[in-house]
Amino acid sequence: SGLFAYDPGFTSTASCRSEITYIDGEAGILLYRGHPIEQLAEKCSFLEVSYLLLNGELPTQKQYDDFVRQVTYHTLLHDQLSYFFQGFRRDAHPMAIMVAVVGALSAFYHDALDIRSKANRDLSAIRIIAKIPTIVAMSYKYSIGLSFMYPRNDLGYVENFMRMMLGNPCEEYHENPVLVKALDRILILHADHEQNASTSTVRLAGSSGANPYACLTSGIACLWGPAHGGANEAVLNMLLEIGDSENISHYLEKAKDKNDPFRLMGFGHRVYKNYDPRAKLMRQTCHEVLDELGLHDDPLFKLALELERIALEDEYFIEKKLYPNVDFYSGIVLRALGIPVNMFTAMFAMGRSVGWIAHWDEMISDPEHKIGRPRQLYTGKTQRDVLSIGERE
Ligand code: CMC
Repeated sequence: SGLFAYDPGFTSTASCRSEITYIDGEAGILLYRGHPIEQLAEKCSFLEVSYLLLNGELPTQKQYDDFVRQVTYHTLLHDQLSYFFQGFRRDAHPMAIMVAVVGALSAFYHDALDIRSKANRDLSAIRIIAKIPTIVAMSYKYSIGLSFMYPRNDLGYVENFMRMMLGNPCEEYHENPVLVKALDRILILHADHEQNASTSTVRLAGSSGANPYACLTSGIACLWGPAHGGANEAVLNMLLEIGDSENISHYLEKAKDKNDPFRLMGFGHRVYKNYDPRAKLMRQTCHEVLDELGLHDDPLFKLALELERIALEDEYFIEKKLYPNVDFYSGIVLRALGIPVNMFTAMFAMGRSVGWIAHWDEMISDPEHKIGRPRQLYTGKTQRDVLSIGERE
C-alpha cells in the first residue's frame, strides 16, 4: 500500500535506541558501553564485562566482589529441574534442552513475573548469569550419560563451569589457567552485539511484558540457526569436511556459485564490512591455546588459516567485503578445550545471555517502550466471498 517502509531483514531500520553496544562495521570497531572490545578482552574478566553491560560502568573492586558473590550464590539449580533433563532422549541436541530448561525457570521464580520491579529484574539477571553455565554443563553430562556435577562456589565462574562440564565426581579437576583465560575471553567476545537476530528476538518477546526467562528462551531458539550462533558448529563441520588445503578451491567455488546453497561458514556479516575485531582476538586466542597444549601443528587450525588467506585474496570475497567473523576461529579454540562440537552454540548462548538480559532490562526501563508490532506489505488476495464446500472446485 506504500504506507509503510518495506525493509525485509531490517537492513536499514533502527528498532530501538540503545546505550549498550556500538559497532562501526566499516571500520571494524566494537565497543561495549564505550570500551573497545580489545581492551576488555585483555584487561577484564567475563563477570566484569557482564557488570559493565548491565550497569553501564565497569565495577570498582568492591562492586565486583559483591557482584561475584551474588552470582556465585545463585549457581545451583532447583533440584526439581534435574527431572527435566531425564525427559529428553540422550541424543537430544543441547540447544533443544536449553530452550526447554531455561524457559522452565519461569515456573520456579515467580518474582520474575513482576517485571516492573527493578529489584526483581536485577535478581533475574543475576540468576540467568549464574544458572546458564550449570544448565549447559548438565545438558552435556546428560547427553553422555555421566552424573551431573554440582557447582563449586569456591571456584571462579569459568573454572567452575569447566569443572562441571569436563570434570567428574571421581577425581579432582585441575584447571589450566591458559585455557580458563581462553574460555573467559570467548564469553567476553560473545557477550553482546547490539541488535543481532537473537537479541532483537528477546526484545520483541519482552516488549509484550513476558517474563525474562521466557524472553531468553526465545533468544536461545533464534541463536540456534546456522546463520547466527549455529555458525560456530557449522564452521567446524565445514573444516572437517574440507579436510585438506588441496580441497579449498573446490569449496570456494561452491561458496561463490549462486546455484549452490553452500556458504563459507564463519565468513560474512550483516554489519561488518571489514575484519570482525572479535575474529582477530579469537585467532590470537587460537595461537595461545594451541601453543599451551602443544598443538601448534593442529591441522584444522592450519586449514582455517589457509582458507582465510585464500578467501581474502579472492575477488568475490573482496568485492562483497566478506571477512572472517567471530565464529570462524571460536570452534577451533572450543574443540581444543575439549568442548564437543554439538555444544558450541550452547557456549555462545552462555556468553550472549548477559547481552540478552541487559537489552531486555534497558527496554523495560524505558518508560516510552511499546509492544513491538511490525507492519507488513500485504501481497495476498483481494477481498472475495466464501463459497460453501460443495460449490468449490
Ligand atoms: N559465503 C559465500 N557468500 C556469501 C557469504 C558466505 N559466507 N556470506 C554472504 N555471501 C554473499 C551472499 O551470497 C550475497 O551475495 P549476492 O549479493 O551476490 O546475493 C552477499 O554476500 C551478501 O550476503 P547476504 O546474505 O545478503 O548478507 P546478510 O547480511 O543477509 O547475511 C550472514 C549475513 C552472516 C547471514 C551471511 O554472511 C552468512 O550466511 N554467513 C555464513 C554464516 C555465518 O558465518 N554466520 C555467523 C555470523 S557472525 C555470528 C552471529 O551473528 O551469530
